[in-house]
Amino acid sequence: MTPDKDIINQHRIFGIISHPDAGKTTLTEKLLLHGGAIREAGTVKARRNNKFATSDWMEIEKQRGISVTSSVMQFKYKDKVVSIMDTPGHNDFGEDTYRILTSVDSAVMVIDAAKGVEAQTKKLFKVCSMRHIPIFTFINKLDRQAEEPLSLMEELEEALGLPSTAVTWPIGSGQLFEGIYDRLKNTLYIYKDKKIIELGEDGINNNIAKQYLSADGLKNLKDDLELLDGAGNEFNIDKILKGELTPVFFGTALADFGVTEFLEHFLVMSPPPGKRMTTTGYVSPTDEFFSGFIFKIQANMNPAHRDRLAFMRICSGTFERGMSVTLSRTGKTIKINQSTMLMANERENVETAYAGDIIGIYDSGNYQIGDSLTNSKEKIFFEPLPTFPPELFMRVRPINSMKAKHFQKGVNQLAQEGAIQVYKNEYNDVVLGAVGSLQFEVFEYRIKNEYNCDIRMEPMNFSVARWVNTEDTDSLKDFENSRCTLVFDHYERPVMLFANQYTLDNFIERNKDLELLESLDIRETTI
Ligand code: G4P
Repeated sequence: MTPDKDIINQHRIFGIISHPDAGKTTLTEKLLLHGGAIREAGTVKARRNNKFATSDWMEIEKQRGISVTSSVMQFKYKDKVVSIMDTPGHNDFGEDTYRILTSVDSAVMVIDAAKGVEAQTKKLFKVCSMRHIPIFTFINKLDRQAEEPLSLMEELEEALGLPSTAVTWPIGSGQLFEGIYDRLKNTLYIYKDKKIIELGEDGINNNIAKQYLSADGLKNLKDDLELLDGAGNEFNIDKILKGELTPVFFGTALADFGVTEFLEHFLVMSPPPGKRMTTTGYVSPTDEFFSGFIFKIQANMNPAHRDRLAFMRICSGTFERGMSVTLSRTGKTIKINQSTMLMANERENVETAYAGDIIGIYDSGNYQIGDSLTNSKEKIFFEPLPTFPPELFMRVRPINSMKAKHFQKGVNQLAQEGAIQVYKNEYNDVVLGAVGSLQFEVFEYRIKNEYNCDIRMEPMNFSVARWVNTEDTDSLKDFENSRCTLVFDHYERPVMLFANQYTLDNFIERNKDLELLESLDIRETTI
C-alpha cells in the first residue's frame, strides 16, 4: 500500500540535546502539556522515577532517579504528529544517547542562558552535525540572570562552529526580564501578564510597545535589533535545513514562556521524514515497500520473559502488524506479530505505522543495532550507524573462573546489543569501553542477574580510543607503554587506547603515516 504523503508530512521526529540541568526535562514536559499528551506538570520527572518499576534490572534507574533507557514520546499538536526521542538526561549517558540521534530528523538544543554551551552539549552536537540535521536552539532560564544574548549567540559560533539567527529575542533577564520579541511574526510577548501584542508595520517603534516595555527595556531591544539586522545572520531556511544555521529562541521552560512560540515556529521549519541513504541509493518515505532500521535494542524490559525490544525507525511504506519482513543481514524472513509504540505514559499496541514513526518490536535475539528490515524484493542496507569512541575503560573478569562460559556468553550478547564496547588485549583479557560510567553499572548488574556471574572490574587509565587502519598489528605492539596500549575490538580490528588527548597528539606527531579513526561504522561488521 502506498503511504499517504499528507500523513507522512505531518510527522516530526526530533531529539533534545543538552547538558544536564539545562532544562531538557522541563521543556519536554511543557511540549507534552501543549500537545495534551500529559495533563500535569511533573509527569515526565515522575515517569523517570517510576517507569518499568516492575522490571528488576531497571532497579538502577529507580535507585539513581535517572532514565537509563530512552523512549519515544508522541503527541499531537494541531495537524502534526510529533515524536520526541527521549535521551538519558544524566551526566552518565551512554552510547544510546548518541544512537538515538541517528534516528531523528532534527534536534532541539537546550542551553542554560547563564551557562552557555557546556561540555555534553558539544558532544551531542557533534553527532547531529555529522548527520547535517537541522538544529533548533532554545536558550532557557531567562527568568534568571543570563549572559548577554549576543554573546550567547557568539558562543554558539565559537564553541560549535554553528552560525545562528535569532527568531525571538529577549528583553532583559532575571528580575528585569520583560518578555520576548518575535522577529519573524513582529510580535511582542509580555512576560508579566503573558500578553501577546501584534505590532504594526513600524515594529517596535510602534507606540504600543512603549506601553508595555520599560524605557530601558525598549531602548536595549531597539539597539539589539539594529545590531542583529545589521550584522547578524539573515534567516535562511535552506541553511537551517542543512544544519548550517541554527534558529535561536529564548524563553523559560519552567514558567512556560516562549515555549509555544518556539513550538509553532519549530513545527513549520522542521523537516518531515525525508529520504534515507542506503548502500544502493535513497529510500523515500513514500516508496511503496516497507523498510526500517533498528537503532536501539533494550533488553529484558519484562524479566519474566527475558524479552528484548528492538526500536525501529520506519523509513518507507506502511507497517502492518503481522507482516513478514526480511532481515537484510541474514536474509531471514521474520513475521512481526508484536509491535508497540511508546507514549508518554504507556505502551500501546500498534497495528499500522508509517515513515516517521518509531515502533518497538519484540525480539527473541534476531536483531542487532543497525539492522535493516524490508518487505522489498531487494535487500536494503541503510546508512550505517556509527560506533563512537569510548572514553572510559575497565578490565573485567569473572571472579569464579568456573563461570567463564557464562561470562563470555554475557559479554558477547551485551556487545552485540551495543550496550557496551568490548575489546580484548593480546593476553585475552576482556576490556570494556563506555562513553558514560553508567554503562559499566548496567553491564555489571546484567551480567550478574542475567548470566549469573559475579565479576571484578578494574578501571584503566585511558581516556581516548582510536581505531588504527593497518594490517600490520604486530608493529603496533612496539608503541605500547603505560600511556598507550593496544586492544582489539569485537571484530578483531586494532584499537589504540591513550591516556589522554596529549598522549594521542604526541603519538600522531610521531607516526604521521598511521591512519587513526575516531569513529567507525558498524555495518561492515554486521553484513
Ligand atoms: P535536564 O532535564 O536538562 O537535566 O534539566 P531539568 O529540566 O530537570 O531542569 C533542571 C533544573 O532547572 C530543575 O530544577 C528545573 O526546575 C530548573 N529549570 C528548568 N527550566 C527552568 C527555567 O526556565 N527557569 C528556571 N529558573 N529554572 C528552570 P531543580 O531544582 O533541579 O529541580 P526541581 O526541583 O525543580 O524539579
